[in-house]
Amino acid sequence: TDTLTVLGLESSCDDTAAAVVRHTLGEMPEVLASTVYGQTDLHAAFGGVVPEIAARAHAEKIDVCVRQAMDQANVGFDQIDAIAVTAGPGLIGGVLSGVMCAKGLSAATGKPLVGVNHLAGHALTPRLTDQTAFPYLMLLVSGGHCQFLIAHGPEQFTRLGGTIDDAPGEAFDKTARLLGLPQPGGPSVEHAAKSGDPKRWRMPRPLLDRAGCDMSFSGLKTAILRARDEVVAAKGGLTEQDRCDLAASFQAAVTDVLAEKTRRALELYLAENPTTPTIAVAGGVAANQTIRTRLEQVCAEHGTAFTAPPLALCTDNAAMIAYAGMERFRLGHTDDMTLVARPRWPL
Ligand code: KG4
Ligand code: ZN
Repeated sequence: TDTLTVLGLESSCDDTAAAVVRHTLGEMPEVLASTVYGQTDLHAAFGGVVPEIAARAHAEKIDVCVRQAMDQANVGFDQIDAIAVTAGPGLIGGVLSGVMCAKGLSAATGKPLVGVNHLAGHALTPRLTDQTAFPYLMLLVSGGHCQFLIAHGPEQFTRLGGTIDDAPGEAFDKTARLLGLPQPGGPSVEHAAKSGDPKRWRMPRPLLDRAGCDMSFSGLKTAILRARDEVVAAKGGLTEQDRCDLAASFQAAVTDVLAEKTRRALELYLAENPTTPTIAVAGGVAANQTIRTRLEQVCAEHGTAFTAPPLALCTDNAAMIAYAGMERFRLGHTDDMTLVARPRWPL
């Protein structure tokens, strides 16, 4: 039929999530419910996501999450057409919790199972929110990933380049730790940067002198560490203003790199696809207002449309998994009980 309703499950990092998405062809998809249980508090004391703690929390929460999403959407399994689940890439214990739960539900209800690549979930979000037409250029920037993709179809992506070391979200998180700001680091560094001087330190812009759209962010954290230690050595500690200035200087460097590499990715994209370009961003870092605004400027300069999903659909969620699963399902692609959880799974 033209209308599909899909339940989605996500548990690949530190968010346990379930969602129900309905889509009638020719209309906008509807997120009927989207539940997210974040684990930030559980990992706070450890300065990063602890895989064992994450896996246990996913195992405990995934059923609750599914029930809540189904209740909120006010649908029963008789109204569900397929069960989509993140099958990777991610922390294997968490991915397993989701896959096992989805297999159980599929076996119990007889509803088809659809394995989804987490990155495809992020990459297809512009279609969930705007029905963005293929092909489009995608910048995927999160805590674990950073890449430029051309989305040709629900399962066809070309990678133009990406980070050769850390992801920007990881750099935000590490910077927050170095500055004594709370996790997750993205929002807290962004907040501090609002009151800071981005020109007080000139942080490196790695690989800007190199052709192509590969990026590097690991040198930035070393630069932040050095700048922080210099201030601490001189004054015995960081003032509030030092923190804000460091945060702003860091964010300015990340923004410059992402903006310049987006310009280059756009040129590569246009060489192959001269028609109606659209750039979309997704992933947690795409929630950053400074970065969004700069990318908007790059697009405006090139006469290119820019689309960024609302913040709640930029960070990890299950609505994107339900939607990506729905696109696979429409192509007639389903999985069976041999679906495996994959820690690594390039698009
Ligand atoms: O997509 P996501 O929820 O999880 C994956 O990594 O897949 O992204 C989380 C990352 C974290 O590193 C977080 O610090 C970063 O996105 N983030 C931000 C902002 N909000 C979240 N980074 C910069 N600015 C933000 N406002
Ligand atoms: Zn993600």
